[in-house]
Amino acid sequence: MYISQEKEPKGNKIRKQWTDAVGRGQGTYTPTQAVIEKARGCVLHTADGRRLLDFTSGVLVQNLGYNHPVFEKRFAQYRKNLPRNAYNMITPVQAEASSRLIKSMKSNPKAEKMLWAASGSEGIQKAMWAAMHRYPDRPILVATRFGFHGKKGLAADVTGETSKNPNVRFVSFPMYTPESPDFYKKELDALYREFPGKIALFITEPYLGAKGSFHPPAWYHQLVQAWCNKHDIPFLFDEVQSCFGRTGNMYAYETYGVTPDMVILGKGLASGESAAAVVGRADLIDSLDYGEASDTYSASVAACSAVCATLDVFKEEQIVRKTKKMAQEVHAMLLDLQQTFPFIRDVRGEGMVYGLEIEGDSLANRCVLEAYRATDTRGVHFLGPLAGKVIRVSPPLVLSESELKSAHSLLLKAWKKI
Ligand SMILES: Cc1ncc(COP(=O)(O)O)c(C=O)c1O
Repeated sequence: MYISQEKEPKGNKIRKQWTDAVGRGQGTYTPTQAVIEKARGCVLHTADGRRLLDFTSGVLVQNLGYNHPVFEKRFAQYRKNLPRNAYNMITPVQAEASSRLIKSMKSNPKAEKMLWAASGSEGIQKAMWAAMHRYPDRPILVATRFGFHGKKGLAADVTGETSKNPNVRFVSFPMYTPESPDFYKKELDALYREFPGKIALFITEPYLGAKGSFHPPAWYHQLVQAWCNKHDIPFLFDEVQSCFGRTGNMYAYETYGVTPDMVILGKGLASGESAAAVVGRADLIDSLDYGEASDTYSASVAACSAVCATLDVFKEEQIVRKTKKMAQEVHAMLLDLQQTFPFIRDVRGEGMVYGLEIEGDSLANRCVLEAYRATDTRGVHFLGPLAGKVIRVSPPLVLSESELKSAHSLLLKAWKKI
């Protein structure tokens, strides 16, 4: 069984070829299974010749849009003539990407040194290893409940609300209606009384993304940081999803007014190449010795070239400044949709990342499908709903006003059918 779409002979052939060969665990469920043959800016062209406005950025990866001309040119230039792999040697672009990345975080005085990884979850794991090596006599790992840090290893251990790792403890994260600051402080203090001097790290996300877009008040992260500082516990901020402009600042720690001990970056960092990074306190990063955080693909020449090219475009095209402006318009458009369609129960988010909470799971799937099929030739592309019924809106940061207007009218047309 494979997902097919009406009037898409070419797309359906490709869907079948893929599904016959690849186990279904490989992909996340989407009701559309869009087959894309060409992509440019915020527009995806399907194999059967339809145009989709992209509201996903892949999965918050292509913040600069698809095939950005300056990015593509620089990406090729940075890696020209270099070996593709650089496991047992160093190339200039690797050194340049590392020092530029640290410099891009000068708003955090703790951004002193870094480690590379090839995926977000590996970055999380390396950050956790660093804290655990720094404090080997502290067994306890604290995470916020309902977070998503990845599906592998230690990243999986601190994801969700229960853990098979007996050393993990979860604490509350503000969701629908935040409790008072005192509630969270008391919970943290009680935890410390239970494990004095035994906590190796505290890990959280700026906002709960995968759980359905819950963006906390800034005081929450500030309160956590104060508690970590008081007890000398490394504060790990998972910016795999939020880094590089998503919340309207280059980094979400700026949005929330904190200075974490380690920040984990991924996704938008390299505009689609496999790159992640941990940037933080030198004493934590240097607690890992030769080889203890090495692997075949981390800091690949392609990844480092992509990071340099992405940083170039952010600077030259003032992406963050433009994002702040467009963010207000995206938010206003989503509130207008909510006014029009009562099945949109809530709009949550900031910058260029929002969640539309829909009345129920099957309706949320229907919204995604109807948006895809808005007209015979056009549509809007979403991920499959998160946490059952939340549709994520995360267009490339380069979305233009006219593209936003088109998406708005397509969604009005599509969702009237529901
Ligand atoms: C906040 C956050 N952390 C970690 C990860 C894991 O990243 P990866 O899928 O690259 O391993 C993700 C991926 O969605 C994420 O959103």
